[in-house]
This record gives sequence, C-alpha cells and structure tokens, in this order.
Amino acid sequence: MIIKNICCIGAGYVGGPTMSVLAEKCPNIIINVVDLNQERVNSWNSNDLNNLPVYEPGLAEIVKNCRNKNLFFSNLIQEKIKEADMVFISVNTPTKKKGLGAGKASDLKWVEACARQVAQYSSGHTIVVEKSTLPVRTAEVIKSILKESKKQNIGEMPLKTFDVLSNPEFLSEGSAIKDLLIPDRVLIGGENNDAINSLCEIYKNWVPEEKILTTNIWSSELAKLTSNAFLAQRISSINSISALCEATGANVKEVARAIGSDSRIGSKFLNTGPGFGGSCFKKDILNLVYLSEFFGLPEVAAFWESVVNLNNWHQNRISKLITKKLFGTLSNKKIVILGFAFKANTNDTRESAAIQICKNLLEEDAYLVIHDSKVAYKQIEVDLEKKVLNSHLTNNDDSKISKGGNWNYTQDLSGIFNDADAVVILTEWDIYKSINWEVVSKFMRSPAWIFDTRSILSPIDIKKSNLNFWQIGDGLL
Ligand code: UDX
Ligand code: ADP
Repeated sequence: MIIKNICCIGAGYVGGPTMSVLAEKCPNIIINVVDLNQERVNSWNSNDLNNLPVYEPGLAEIVKNCRNKNLFFSNLIQEKIKEADMVFISVNTPTKKKGLGAGKASDLKWVEACARQVAQYSSGHTIVVEKSTLPVRTAEVIKSILKESKKQNIGEMPLKTFDVLSNPEFLSEGSAIKDLLIPDRVLIGGENNDAINSLCEIYKNWVPEEKILTTNIWSSELAKLTSNAFLAQRISSINSISALCEATGANVKEVARAIGSDSRIGSKFLNTGPGFGGSCFKKDILNLVYLSEFFGLPEVAAFWESVVNLNNWHQNRISKLITKKLFGTLSNKKIVILGFAFKANTNDTRESAAIQICKNLLEEDAYLVIHDSKVAYKQIEVDLEKKVLNSHLTNNDDSKISKGGNWNYTQDLSGIFNDADAVVILTEWDIYKSINWEVVSKFMRSPAWIFDTRSILSPIDIKKSNLNFWQIGDGLL
C-alpha cells in the first residue's frame, strides 16, 4: 500500500516536529496534523514562526518550507481521519493520578478516544500507528476498539479494515529535529508485513534501510520503555557513585572517564547531576514497574523502581547537604539558584530536579533568588506551588528575615549575588560557565558557598576567590 495521505492526531511536542520532518522528506504525501486544542493549532499556523508551540532548533525553518504545501494544521479531526491512509496517534499519556495504577500506570483515556475517533470516521483500509509512548499491549486496546467498528460494517457502506503498528519516538528535547533527521534507529513493530512495509517505505526516503528495525508489536512497545529505563538507570548509577566519591575521596568525573573507556559501557550519559528530569524517564520507568507488578514479577518491579527511588533520594541529599554546610539553618539566608529547567537548552521544567531541591530549601526557610533565562516565572510559580515574592531584590539583611521561605525570580544575573550566602547551580546553562567568581565573591556574605551540582565550574578558578566550594562527586574538596 503506497501512502498518500497521513493524519496525525495530536499537535504536541511529538506530533508537531515528527510530522514536520515527514512532510519535508516526503513532498508527495499530504500530511494533516489535527488537534482538539484550537489555540495550539493557531500557534502552529501563526505567521510569527517564533511563536510555534514547540521550540526546537531547525523546526521553524521546516514548518516555513512545508506549511500549507503538504503540511497542514487544523481541528478538522473527522474530515482528515476520513481522508487518511495512515493515522498516527501522538496524544498525551500522563501518569494516572487516581484509580487503578495511580502514580504508575499511564492514563490512556486520550489514546482510547483517538481509537474511537478512527473507528468512527475512517474509510477503507487504514493503518493506525502508535507514536506516543505507551504501555506494552496498548495496541491490543486500540485493536479491540477498531475490531468493534469492523463489526459495524453494514450494507452498502464500504468495508473498513485496519492494521495497527507501533513506531515509538526517540526524541530528546533540544535535538528533536536532528534525532528525526539522523536517527540511531527507527523501530516499527507490527503483525502484518504489508503494513510494516508501507511505513518502512516512508522512512526510507531519508533513513538508511539498515537503521530501520522491524519487530513484533509488543517488542517495539517494550523496547521504547526499556530504552528510557536504561538511560535513566545509567544516571542513577553514576549519581549513586558520586555520593560514594564524596565519601571516599574519589572523583566521579575520573571514575566516569575510566569506566566509559570500556567500549562495553561507553562514555555517553555518564554525567552526574542533580537527578534526572524531563517528561519521559520517570513516567516510563513507573510504567515498567506497573507492568512488572501486573504480570506478577515483583522483583523486576522493585529493581526498576529503585532507579526512581535513587533519583528522589539524590535530590533530597543535595538539599540536605546545602543546609548542613550552611550551619544547619537557612533562615535569614539568601540562596541564588542558577537554572530551573530540567536540562540546558530547553524551557521545560517537567520533573526538573530544581523543583524538589528548591521546595526543600524553602521548607528550611531560605530566601531563594531563582535565575533562568528561558523558564517563565509563572511556570516556576506552578512548580513550586507558591507565588513569587513581589518585592525588589535588595541586599539588606532585615529584608532577608522577612523573606524567609519565599522566592524571587530574575532573568538578569547582574546584582543577584549581592549579600547572598550561597549559589546553587542546577542547570548547566553556558552563561554560568563564564561567571567571574573572584568578582562575585566580593558581593556575597562570608562565609559564602558555591554548590555546583552539574560539575561545570573549574575548582582552580574558584580557588582564586575566597568562596567555599562543593562540586558534586568530588571527594577531595
Ligand atoms: C529522553 C530520551 O533521551 C529520549 O530518547 C526520549 O525519547 C525522551 O526522553 P529528554 O527527556 O529530552 O529525552 O532528555 P535527556 O537528554 O535524555 O535528559 C534527561 C535527564 O537526564 C535531564 O534531566 C538531564 O539533565 C539528565 N542527564 C542526562 C544527566 O543527569 N546526565 C547525563 O549524562 C545525561
Ligand atoms: P506529547 O509530548 O506526547 O506530544 P503533548 O501534551 O505535547 O504530548 O501533545 C498532545 C496533544 O494531543 C495535545 O495538544 C492535545 O490537545 C492533543 N489531543 C489529545 N487528545 C486528542 C484527541 N482525542 N483528538 C485530537 N487531539 C488530541
């Protein structure tokens, strides 16, 4: 089956960039991205390309080239499903907040709604592709909904038939377009070879054939969860070793370099930090935990849950350590927080380690001044569940007393170190690497501390100032 018309349900972080790259690489295919959210659709159609709902380097140029040629964004869900030979499901699948599997399982209500829409509005043969990260055996849910609609094929109506494929995304924020253009692999799981081939042919327009892996549908679904779980596990592993380095006098960077030189281990994803964040890692591991429990494998569940537990412990370890170094109390103390995003080059704060660490410091009555040039203060307000303190930044001691347990926000580094007792680096933004600490130290209140959780500063540079310095995983400091 040669695909001429695609409909993607969901114009979010996954659907938008993926379909934009598909449109650019397959000019002969008409691609309609549909979404219930009219505001989001309007932003995708906005003339101001700086205003797209998703920021990714390279995305705006592709949208500019393809939009209204073979790439269209709308809320015409019914009409566009009907026209499509292939429907991608790219809707949100957050962790369930209540009911069965609360706190672990993914909420599939949006996926189920999509399957029902496809069952109702499609015509002829339709290949349905799962794109969102989904728990293993979701394809079965989709299939059984579609099967019901097949039963409703009646009389003169043209026969509806379906195939379901799993084609998980492996996009990392900040490099999503590069990940799509030059993927490590494309994974396609399915039962029907014709349907698998139809999707392979699309990818072959720009992806070398040997990078397109085909599997059965359950392996594909499980590979996606496992991939993220393995990546997160590496981070928890190196973070656990950072604590041991601090206790023993070893240096985690040296340990990481030594183990990373073993080609079986590899050097990537071994940077210690304040704990992993982002929308996927925790959610996917908890899904794996839920699945393992569901299938009667408590030991497997406990193994993977320990990766998340370690991450939580590690975040709390950092805030406790800060409190201890500042004589066990943070009241009347001003702490500058450098970075709130879950990693550099994104404005996303979902599951950012900064959230828990800042909450803990506020609980200890610290006054925080939070800097992040990409994250909006309103987002921080939501994350910390606490309103920003609307007062001017001042370096006067009395004001610190009245501000205890509160926070302020700034996008400007100048003046924020005045009278601060400590600086905590939580996101590895480049601008923090070039701060002149010798100058900054003159404005801070002695004894002043720098806590570098991203290991981006050079201890030699800091030594030139009279600042106390803690760097994650360095046992000699
Ligand atoms: C991740 C996966 O990389 C991607 O394949 C998947 O499809 C979606 O989830 P993303 O969440 O965008 O992508 O970010 P990633 O770069 O993987 O980083 C996740 C977290 O781990 C960040 O908080 C980052 O700071 C942290 N991290 C990463 C480390 O602490 N150390 C490292 O060495 C790498
Ligand atoms: P992701 O990061 O997985 O792309 P997002 O939350 O960024 O998730 O985007 C998912 C999008 O899917 C949202 O814009 C939401 O409005 C849309 N959506 C959810 N359910 C439906 C549905 N049944 N029909 C159309 N769009 C939907």
